[in-house]
Amino acid sequence: FISIPPLELANKYFSLYPEEKDPIWQNPCDDKRHLAIWSENKSCDRLPKFLVIGPQKTGTTALYSFLSMHPSIMSNFPSTKTFEEVQFFSGANYHRGIDWYMEFFPLPNNSSTHYVFEKSATYFDNHQVAERAYAMLPRARIVTILLSPSKRAYSWYQHMRAHADPTALNYSFFEVVSALEGAPKAVRDLQNRCLRPGMYAEHLDRWLSYYPPNQLLILDGELLKNDPVSVMNKVQRYLKIKPFYNYEQHLKFDSKKGFYCQILPEGKTKCLGKSKGRNYPIMDSQSQKFLQQYYKQHNIELFKLLSRLGQQLPEWLQDELQVI
Ligand code: A3P
Repeated sequence: FISIPPLELANKYFSLYPEEKDPIWQNPCDDKRHLAIWSENKSCDRLPKFLVIGPQKTGTTALYSFLSMHPSIMSNFPSTKTFEEVQFFSGANYHRGIDWYMEFFPLPNNSSTHYVFEKSATYFDNHQVAERAYAMLPRARIVTILLSPSKRAYSWYQHMRAHADPTALNYSFFEVVSALEGAPKAVRDLQNRCLRPGMYAEHLDRWLSYYPPNQLLILDGELLKNDPVSVMNKVQRYLKIKPFYNYEQHLKFDSKKGFYCQILPEGKTKCLGKSKGRNYPIMDSQSQKFLQQYYKQHNIELFKLLSRLGQQLPEWLQDELQVI
């Protein structure tokens, strides 16, 4: 029996099964056959124990930096390619494979007490991430933060203005969110980036079609702003992290920043950078009304989902449901 050379064989194989060109990586140790061909020098534990999935603009950087303050919690090593986020499961990096991903995490020997995590805010609303994450990290905990979807949309718009995005600079927020089908593509794209992530129930349902509800932690972004200590306590309890870290002693409201900041050992405070907690005018009432209507059904679905999971309803959701 003679086989054609490996490369040709691969080409032949993928021409027969083109749908398999898109890989789904699994943890090599979860399958005996994979483990058998996995190098002895490699470990299967060099992976995060939990993922902070976003969505963007809900306070993910604040959560990331507060988590990193904890003596037993450790984030991935920084990425030089994708700014602070690895964004493995959501983009082209996925095709770099499991070894590439594992390089971002410490070797498990001494750090087994560490709760290693990764935060990529693009994971939440990306269609492929839940399936990919579950295939590789079926036991991981998934942490998401939800904020009023209208506020999130507005924060994203302001983010794009701050980055001098020409569409965000040339069109008002209302023009963007209310754009109709025939609007220029750039406006429709921006509209999409503003509105889609806020369809929370739809995205959560996708995550829940892979992960069991007890592996999903839903945090309130409004509470993260106003009472981060209670949120961090909730996270610690949920992840059963030891020792229990007293955030009360390490976070302080900074009136100049208008947000909670980290207390450094010398007593100074360290706040997040200028791009987090920006100053901008409050949302115009026309957009507010439009978005209330727009998100009405989505918020009802979220209400049903949270009730089904026995989760506490965030105050902002109760408010939004009241105006319906
Ligand atoms: P704004 O800048 O629109 O106010 P993300 O990190 O996911 O991009 O989210 C950014 C948002 O985090 C900010 O949006 C801000 O409202 C919120 N945030 C929550 N806690 C914060 C904190 N302690 N410091 C700064 N921003 C915080």
